[in-house]
Amino acid sequence: MKIAVSGKGGVGKTTLSAFLVKWFAEQGNKVLAIDADPDANLGHGLGIKDASNIVPIAKMKDLVAERTESVPGSFGGFFKLNPQVDDLPEKLAVSSGDRIRLMVMGGVKKGGTGCVCPESVLLKNLVQHLILRRDEVVVMDMEAGIEHLGRGTSKAVDCLVVVVEPGRRSIETALRIKELGMDIGLSNFALVGNKVRGDKDREFLKENLPEYRFLGFIPYDDGLIEADLRGIFPEQLREETRKCFEEIAMNLQSLRTVAASRET
Ligand SMILES: Nc1ncnc2c1ncn2[C@@H]1O[C@H](COP(=O)(O)OP(=O)(O)OP(=O)(O)O)[C@@H](O)[C@H]1O
Ligand SMILES: [Mg+2]
Repeated sequence: MKIAVSGKGGVGKTTLSAFLVKWFAEQGNKVLAIDADPDANLGHGLGIKDASNIVPIAKMKDLVAERTESVPGSFGGFFKLNPQVDDLPEKLAVSSGDRIRLMVMGGVKKGGTGCVCPESVLLKNLVQHLILRRDEVVVMDMEAGIEHLGRGTSKAVDCLVVVVEPGRRSIETALRIKELGMDIGLSNFALVGNKVRGDKDREFLKENLPEYRFLGFIPYDDGLIEADLRGIFPEQLREETRKCFEEIAMNLQSLRTVAASRET
């Protein structure tokens, strides 16, 4: 099961990703959590102590140089486009509980459009490996785009989950993300409505995104903000909120079951 989570800034991508990671682990799966959003912190979302001290892979200059055979600090030099990455999950992932491991990708400074730099090549190869080769549940928390995914990987992503909140901008972002996804061949796309304060919000989202499949809706819940402030995983949630999260996770799982039965 490979899940990528995207959406506008602040809509609840990390909150949902952390919940999915915990849920799939509770079901007995090995789960790899990927923090692919340079501005956010899935480690905090999962309640990992000292999450801010984890060095993102893009910042591991020696590793980037060694694997891509590039010269640190140089610009425009030659480097390998297919660096070795298969040993990196074992070496670099941070454990969180029995079955959960976290990899923090970090950000790559962009030098104009189409910039290909050693860091981005390493990250892209790594994500490709994690999605195509690893036999475990992968949940990837992304920024408002699908930067690390490419044509090669997109088919193996079981679902690109786009989180939306009741608001025009988050809807516009969701539509843009869907277009980006379709450009690279991502076909499984589903929405999660978050911070929903009642039927009016739910209807607003459905009306504005009529052609899209919703995995579920999560109510606005102060418990989530409280947990975020304390840097812990939100164990103490309203029963209603927990049920909504669980329903979304189960809907995702059944997507996989349907896909698997088609494959056989
Ligand atoms: N259903 C909800 N009810 C109330 N607050 C929520 C809900 N979901 C998320 N939040 C809060 O909204 C804030 C943003 O959530 P989160 O960090 O998960 O979003 P994000 O999309 O990952 O943001 P970023 O783009 O900065 O990475 C956090 O304080 C979080 O606790
Ligand atoms: Mg986030």
